[in-house]
Amino acid sequence: MINEHLVLIGFMGSGKSSLSQQLGIALKREVLDTDVLISEKVGLSVAQIFEKFGEEGFRMLERNLLEELKSLKTPHIISTGGGIIMHNNFRGLGKVFYLRANFEVILERLSAYEFQKRPLLKDLQKAKELYLKRQVLYEKNADFIIDANGGLQKSLEQVLEYCL
Ligand code: ADP
Ligand code: S3P
Repeated sequence: MINEHLVLIGFMGSGKSSLSQQLGIALKREVLDTDVLISEKVGLSVAQIFEKFGEEGFRMLERNLLEELKSLKTPHIISTGGGIIMHNNFRGLGKVFYLRANFEVILERLSAYEFQKRPLLKDLQKAKELYLKRQVLYEKNADFIIDANGGLQKSLEQVLEYCL
């Protein structure tokens, strides 16, 4: 069993938060979600933080949180926001699993509510460009690549295969 944080990365809607919950149950490990932690700390939703402090404000909170997560003494499962790999201090956080899902699959998956939670999905043309740019970074930062185009159970089995 891997004795460091298990870190899920991938584009918005690839299933990081959902899968992290399942992994927590399967591996009996505590789960943390960077978006949730930031939101709780500031007392605002991610969308509200973007509105009030801009993307730069959100990124600063994300960068600071990475340091806190690195200093935790016990290994957790960490679900991350899709932009986490932009930070230099992301390196060294733990074993990284990239949930790779096609852009079209992600769009079909997300409800209107899920869209509205994610400010960077407002403009679909820009979101597609971001997806293409990010793909390279996710691959570069990944220890393992998970095919996340299918159901959650399928993704879960792949991750467990790597870490058990
Ligand atoms: P992320 O944390 O990567 O942004 P979420 O876990 O929040 O993604 O998932 C976004 C939405 O897609 C949720 O409504 C979730 O129920 C759904 N979802 C996630 N993974 C899958 C999957 N493998 N198959 C179908 N729907 C999924
Ligand atoms: C972002 C992804 C979001 C959230 C914020 C920015 C990104 O998290 O952190 O809206 O830059 O890709 P999810 O990947 O959980 O949607």
